[in-house]
Amino acid sequence: MSGRIYAAITGMGHYTPARVMTNEDMAQLVDTSDEWISSRTGIRQRRIAAPGEKTSDMGIAAARMAMANAGVTGEDIDAIYFATCSGDMLFPATACFVQQAIGARRAYGFDLSSACAGFLMALEVATGAIESGRIRTALVIGAEKLSAITDWTDRSTCVLFGDGAGAAILRASDRPGVLSTLLGVDGSHADILSLPASGTLHPASERTLREHLQYVHMSGGETFKIAVNTMVNAAREAVARAGLTFDDIQCMIPHQANMRIVEAVAKRLGPGLMERVYLNLDRYGNTSAASIPLAFSEAVSLGKVKSGDKVLMVAFGGGLSWGGAVVEWL
Ligand code: ACO
Repeated sequence: MSGRIYAAITGMGHYTPARVMTNEDMAQLVDTSDEWISSRTGIRQRRIAAPGEKTSDMGIAAARMAMANAGVTGEDIDAIYFATCSGDMLFPATACFVQQAIGARRAYGFDLSSACAGFLMALEVATGAIESGRIRTALVIGAEKLSAITDWTDRSTCVLFGDGAGAAILRASDRPGVLSTLLGVDGSHADILSLPASGTLHPASERTLREHLQYVHMSGGETFKIAVNTMVNAAREAVARAGLTFDDIQCMIPHQANMRIVEAVAKRLGPGLMERVYLNLDRYGNTSAASIPLAFSEAVSLGKVKSGDKVLMVAFGGGLSWGGAVVEWL
């Protein structure tokens, strides 16, 4: 026994709103079609939060499922890391609403804003805090209400996004569960994917409303090209840091943005990898920080991830930011 403290995921949970919005529904709003959306992206439908349903509500529902699966109560949780780019408010942090709802009396918490790479950023922070011995149990959430920051008149973006949440409980362990993490940002491409009027640069005004600056803006083609290269490099590095090869990976869970991006990434990583990819973007679209934990939790619930499996996660998003991680499902 080395005495070293490791971090391991001991339970996952997810939540999606009840309302299903299909590509046909989308075609009632903007000039698009099921054929265009599904052939370009692989998305067939997405979930949309009810008007009064908050990002925190979705995160709390996912957290409760993860806690039940891990056999922990609110009292056990030392820290709550909430990844989102569509939190209830700029402050208080959405993590505070979770803390109150689940009775995590001893926990501190904060939000991380790193768009689609947010969950992997939060996983890294939680892992570091556990491995250092500062905390023993962390709740990591990725949740988004992207429908509230989507420009429903812009067909080039509104067809892509959806709402949902995923959560993981991480605990101190004498066996390694989180085998590697890797993060990166490159601010030189900050302008290709952004929510311009979400902070103090462009306070709400007639102009921000007129120019739709309070919604997600994206250069789709540029994003696509950089996403593929970045995710390939992040996946390779995460697997190498874990001391593994792609043959050791039983399941790959990529950020669920676009089927064509995922296929291009898997093809470049090696033969046969696509068969090991878990995908649910056809049903949920791109849910940003929620996408990886939502897919991971679903894969576990469906028995697609089994004890001893090594799972590779890789994400890419606004910033630009990216992340990769390999975990063993103990
Ligand atoms: N329905 C019909 N036509 C459309 C639609 C739509 N929903 N959206 C765009 N078009 C049109 C365009 O207007 C354009 O028409 P034009 O040629 O007459 O000007 C034509 O389709 C082609 O547009 P492109 O943007 O070149 O289409 P492309 O094939 O590149 O596909 C897409 C667009 C799907 C957005 C693609 O670029 C993509 O997936 N990019 C990556 C986006 C992504 O994954 N972002 C998320 C990563 S980060 C994060 O998750 C926050």
